[in-house]
Amino acid sequence: MLNRAFDIVWFTLTATNQHGIHSPSLFQLYEHVIRDDRKFHAFEKLEVYRNQLLRNSEKIDILELGAGSSYGSASSKQIKEVASQQLSSPYQLRVLFRLIEWVEAENIVELGASLGLSSFYLAATSTKNTVTSFEGNPHFVKLIKLQNLRLGFENLHLIEGNFDKTYPEFIQSGPKVDFIFIDGNHREQATIDYFLQSLKIIDEDGIIVLDDIHWSLGMQKAWKKIKAHERVNASIDLYMMGIIFLSPEYKEKRHLNIRPRIWT
Ligand SMILES: C[S@@+](CC[C@H](N)C(=O)[O-])C[C@H]1O[C@@H](n2cnc3c(N)ncnc32)[C@H](O)[C@@H]1O
Repeated sequence: MLNRAFDIVWFTLTATNQHGIHSPSLFQLYEHVIRDDRKFHAFEKLEVYRNQLLRNSEKIDILELGAGSSYGSASSKQIKEVASQQLSSPYQLRVLFRLIEWVEAENIVELGASLGLSSFYLAATSTKNTVTSFEGNPHFVKLIKLQNLRLGFENLHLIEGNFDKTYPEFIQSGPKVDFIFIDGNHREQATIDYFLQSLKIIDEDGIIVLDDIHWSLGMQKAWKKIKAHERVNASIDLYMMGIIFLSPEYKEKRHLNIRPRIWT
């Protein structure tokens, strides 16, 4: 608790806005992805799905696969509880969407689909893009598939099972990937492992986004180690998530803490 309070104060004090960004490429990205608030047609439709989830009192079984939840463990929960605890915010999902658009990513991977909202946002970026989303809870996967019968994202592929088994198998198959969103199993070592595994398949210009990088001391340590990896050329810490840039376009390493638009 104390660590969290200190961490947020430290972030607020060290975070910058557009005036502190000296790299032209990162400045452009800030303007078009982080600060921009264009609303795309798909957002409205997907936020309807969020609202349906937030009203749904049906129970769904929960599997403890990762670091667990700060809301306590239960073998089943109402769908509305899962939605309010797990789903990324509209702002976060819009940033992911605009980021994919801005860097023209085409082959996207997501670790941790939950109820599928983020997976649908990723798939909505373009019908030409391919999204492979991993999720360990079979009840969640079933719900996502049912919802996708209505939404019709043919470019979304779900892989069910524990990442520790399914992700290495996927990597073995030699996929082409240029964008990875890691949002499941928020343990320090697991997060580092998924990052290192991701480096085996991602393009040299690729982007890796890690969710909840300040969620725990372990996640803060994982983020620090990941930023320092030799293949990382720049990073942006938006507090709720961190963006890792591998592209050699960022010759000088730059690590920025940026106040997200919702805080400015
Ligand atoms: C925070 S939620 C994902 C939220 C979603 N990306 C969003 O933004 O709406 C994390 C998900 O990862 C899944 N998960 C955690 N650890 C896992 C593991 N080791 N293998 C497979 N799935 C896992 C959980 O079941 C949960 O649905």
